Amino acid sequence: MAIVQVAHPLLFLLSLFLYTQQTTSSVINPGSSLSPITNCTSWLSPSGFFAFGFYPEGDKYGIGIWLVGKPNKTVVWTANRNDPLVSAYATIKLTKDGKLVVQTDRGSQEASLVDSELSEPATSASMLDSGNFVLHGNNSTVIWESFDFPTDTILGGQNLSEGQELISSKSSLDHSSGRFRFSMQLDGNLVAYPVNSGNNRQDAYWASNTFTTETSLQLNLDSRGTLALQRAYGGGYEKILVNHSSYSSKEGSTVYRATLDDDGIFRLYIHWFLKGDFPSTSMSLRWSALQHQCEVKGFCGYNSYCRGSSNGTSCDCFHGFDFIDESNRFLGCRRSSNYEQHCGVEDGNITPNITALRGVEFGDHPHLILPLPIHECERSCREDCNCEVALHKKGSCFKMKLPIIYANATGDESFTVLVKELIPTKLMPGIEKYKLVLIVGVSLGSIAIFCSLIAAFSFLLYRYRVHKYTRLSIDSTLGPPREFTLQSFSYKELEEATNGFTEKIRKGSFWAVYKGIMSDGSKRVAVKRLERATPRGEKEFQAEMAATGHSHHKNIVQLLGFSMESSRKLLVFEYMENGSLADLLFDVERRPPWSERVRIALEVARGILYLHEECELQIIHCDITTQNILMDGSQTAKISNFGLAKLLMPNQTGTATEIRGTRGYVAPELQRSAMVSTKADIYSYGVLLLEIVCCRSNMVVDVSSADEVLLCSWVYNCYITGELPKLVKDEQVNMKSIERMVQIGLLCVQDDLEIRPLIKDVILMMEGITDVPRLPCPTPSSYLS
Ligand SMILES: *[C@@H]1O[C@H](CO)[C@@H](O)[C@H](O)[C@H]1NC(C)=O
Ligand SMILES: *[C@@H]1O[C@H](CO)[C@@H](O)[C@H](O)[C@H]1NC(C)=O
Ligand SMILES: *[C@@H]1O[C@H](CO)[C@@H](O)[C@H](O)[C@H]1NC(C)=O
Ligand SMILES: *[C@@H]1O[C@H](CO)[C@@H](O)[C@H](O)[C@H]1NC(C)=O
Ligand SMILES: *[C@@H]1O[C@H](CO)[C@@H](O)[C@H](O)[C@H]1NC(C)=O
Ligand SMILES: *[C@@H]1O[C@H](CO)[C@@H](O)[C@H](O)[C@H]1NC(C)=O
Ligand SMILES: *[C@@H]1O[C@H](CO)[C@@H](O)[C@H](O)[C@H]1NC(C)=O
Ligand SMILES: *[C@@H]1O[C@H](CO)[C@@H](O)[C@H](O)[C@H]1NC(C)=O
Ligand SMILES: *[C@@H]1O[C@H](CO)[C@@H](O)[C@H](O)[C@H]1NC(C)=O
Repeated sequence: MAIVQVAHPLLFLLSLFLYTQQTTSSVINPGSSLSPITNCTSWLSPSGFFAFGFYPEGDKYGIGIWLVGKPNKTVVWTANRNDPLVSAYATIKLTKDGKLVVQTDRGSQEASLVDSELSEPATSASMLDSGNFVLHGNNSTVIWESFDFPTDTILGGQNLSEGQELISSKSSLDHSSGRFRFSMQLDGNLVAYPVNSGNNRQDAYWASNTFTTETSLQLNLDSRGTLALQRAYGGGYEKILVNHSSYSSKEGSTVYRATLDDDGIFRLYIHWFLKGDFPSTSMSLRWSALQHQCEVKGFCGYNSYCRGSSNGTSCDCFHGFDFIDESNRFLGCRRSSNYEQHCGVEDGNITPNITALRGVEFGDHPHLILPLPIHECERSCREDCNCEVALHKKGSCFKMKLPIIYANATGDESFTVLVKELIPTKLMPGIEKYKLVLIVGVSLGSIAIFCSLIAAFSFLLYRYRVHKYTRLSIDSTLGPPREFTLQSFSYKELEEATNGFTEKIRKGSFWAVYKGIMSDGSKRVAVKRLERATPRGEKEFQAEMAATGHSHHKNIVQLLGFSMESSRKLLVFEYMENGSLADLLFDVERRPPWSERVRIALEVARGILYLHEECELQIIHCDITTQNILMDGSQTAKISNFGLAKLLMPNQTGTATEIRGTRGYVAPELQRSAMVSTKADIYSYGVLLLEIVCCRSNMVVDVSSADEVLLCSWVYNCYITGELPKLVKDEQVNMKSIERMVQIGLLCVQDDLEIRPLIKDVILMMEGITDVPRLPCPTPSSYLS
């Protein structure tokens, strides 16, 4: 237990008056102490590369381990890093009763320097050449080591084990906890996050994308400079981040150091202790996890965005925001004005003003995604009291609340941030108050109203379904996971998917549907393309998108994605193998048997029930026809084509509309007034039901007798005269069952809205749970529409 005295006297000017020298010892015995103002400020490792003790930070001292070297020393570990720095009168002692303590000032209480309770008293301590400071127990076993408690650095030979994390320092001069962390997760993934975030995928900015198989993983830096994810038991590498190679082009000893730097980037450095010139060192960067500081999420604070240039990286506030602290721009920005927009409260004194900033994007979760062109996005945000900022990218409008997190100037002009600022109305040029109210009133329209409702709804949905982060795939794009958003496609992708729009499967007045296959070959899709970019076509596109984008029901055709590039607008739906219900019913060869038809009628009713009563917003389809019911591979009926759909607010019973829809299915009241309610769908459903019963269209001209031309009146006559078997021709069907269906169908096509049942009653009647009420006497128009 020889004490090796001062191998290399290093002179540090610690104060104006005192030079001190350091002691190199392989073993530190109880009773030893250190003090910044004596000639013993640190304990050196045998090689003299590492030291444990006091290092100056400003006019105070930190306690830790550093790489000795000239001109700079590099702190690699800090004890009690978030405690205040200590004064020049502090002392560190390894006490006779085996504790490592610090007395921070003259006469102050002694505090432990090790976080954990020691299992037994320390009998000695050592500063090892690896940079590990250890305490030994009675039997020279290691009872505590600094390698087990990394701060922001791991050194050659050190592991970052499962569950451990590195936390960056505030700056190169302040080693207290900073803004980023680097976590060796229990799932085997090594991930970097801003420090104040959960382990969520959307907060991660770097990941190793490894995962635990049979054994847990750890990050290991070996003494030859290989940085790798290693299996903790059984050995072997899972993933090599930096390969060891002959890198010692300089003479001398090398030390490797991997640090989560204060800018959030994890880097591997090499230090050389030059031969014959100790302690002068040189250092170089060996590897860096990321190249640009703007890739680090949270590099700039809330409401500011990161911009990288040849001059370095800077953080800037969005329009209408000021730095919280001008001298520390990383802290982010806050609104310059105190105006607030309250939902549901009209405040004529303030007006939203939207400022666009191109080439900036951010990675937050939106509360609503809408496929809108930029000016529509701007308008939609302006009018939506829940929207404080919007991101427009590739034809999609992402509306969000403040704060803006993780904003980044990418220079990609297809991204635009729209920031809403509330300014006193009098500052708004050219728009007087009444005009404004008029504009808002007129332009809002039904779409804007339901947009904000969907907004609230989808926000809740999102809140409800946010999942904990497990693995990050490095190529994951901004935005929330696919399961609750629509996928955005490029026109080209869909052109390829449909083989150049060759196979047309359906056609409407403004659109056509093409058969396609996903590029990965995973599934068939139906691509609906707006063929003529008329205002009405656009409106139908929006309506369809809004209604189907938020409907999830097994009897509603599912929207999978969309593409919007200027006037090219496409929707991608699940592919329905068996075509429309019309194809099925009106083809003598394919006509399904009675029991199947009853099932299909019930499925359509369930789909309508979802739209009318189970969906957060009430949706009126307005175009229920056999053409718009599609059959999938297992003959499940699904409602499609929501181009005419209307969304109602919770307390709204009807909405104004133009008369559209398909001849023969349009409810008579729509021809008198322009108010549409769910009862219009009931009417159409009634017609559809009678078609399902009879397997014929509601209007055919090539029939033998003139009174068969209109389905409803023919069915009614047959019902009155007891000639129901005529309806199903020679099919063998239980007459009771037919009678029930016919009664329900006729009830649905009543002229009087009050008599038409609700869809839930229709289902109860069809299932035989409730009786079908008596049919009233017909009014002439009922069966003549
Ligand atoms: C400095 O070290 C010498 C021995 O190297 C010792 O005699 C002296 O007392 C020390 N001075 C102080 C102030 O501790
Ligand atoms: C030493 O530190 C100064 C200031 O922090 C820095 O400019 C210089 O590059 C450093 N030198 C080395 C060799 O790291
Ligand atoms: C250390 O071990 C010796 C025997 O090896 C024993 O006498 C002594 O009490 C032990 N000390 C402590 C603190 O456990
Ligand atoms: C010290 O360690 C040796 C071998 O590990 C063991 O045989 C002995 O019992 C230990 N002694 C004490 C006092 O712990
Ligand atoms: C790091 O992990 C390796 C492999 O599990 C192990 O051999 C080595 O002793 C560990 N190093 C430290 C300092 O614990
Ligand atoms: C490191 O790279 C060299 C060639 O560059 C290769 O031969 C060697 O196998 C690699 N080492 C490991 C551990 O993958
Ligand atoms: C930020 O922008 C840079 C280019 O300036 C890009 O490389 C980086 O991936 C972006 N980071 C994020 C989080 O979007
Ligand atoms: C770099 O800084 C100089 C001086 O501060 C300034 O004039 C110049 O515009 C900056 N360049 C960039 C790309 O920011
Ligand atoms: C309103 O926004 C425009 C940019 O869209 C901006 O030029 C103007 O200064 C803003 N008005 C006020 C009063 O901030």
